[in-house]
Amino acid sequence: MKILFDKKTIQDKVSILANQISKDYLLNKHAMFIIVLKGSIHFASDLLRFIPTINIPVEFIRVKSYEGTSQSQFLSVTSFLKESDIKGKDVLIIEDIIDSGKTLERIIFYVNSLEAKSINICTLLNKPSCRKVEVLNDKYVGFNIEDQFVVGYGLDFKEKYRNLSNIMILEESDL
Ligand code: IMP
Ligand code: MG
Repeated sequence: MKILFDKKTIQDKVSILANQISKDYLLNKHAMFIIVLKGSIHFASDLLRFIPTINIPVEFIRVKSYEGTSQSQFLSVTSFLKESDIKGKDVLIIEDIIDSGKTLERIIFYVNSLEAKSINICTLLNKPSCRKVEVLNDKYVGFNIEDQFVVGYGLDFKEKYRNLSNIMILEESDL
């Protein structure tokens, strides 16, 4: 596998995003972070550690996708948030990667249904050329990447490679 972003490049980028978020949320008393499992584990924990100055509650959400009998894909939220935790909050959703945008679209729909005041997105990786639904307000994006499958730093292929510290490009020969 080829390295796309090494540990140092990732850490530098996460620190830049954290600084930006720290500034923007410093005075916000209604902010909360929602971490999307499982792919965001490394990103979110590094990001939070780079934000030492503010106290913001953190929740987790998980979305599972099911292939239907037709070509359509169903996405369902499998870990639920309490309405009382979200209502009136300025939510920042922390994602590992945005591909088609459908996962995020589903999450935004769900968080909106709990009456969040506002929703922003922070994603480490973004694949603009793969987008099928428009969801991104591109305020907090780490790296825009090509249409390629990447693993490591939390990202998996069939639950493998999440532990790697670099982000690697998975090639046909690795399958
Ligand atoms: P979307 O719903 O198409 O935007 O895809 C989002 C989800 O697909 C992510 O949260 C990842 O779990 C997975 N995904 C998309 N692209 C990649 C990739 O290159 N590597 C690993 N997982 C990916
Ligand atoms: Mg995945």
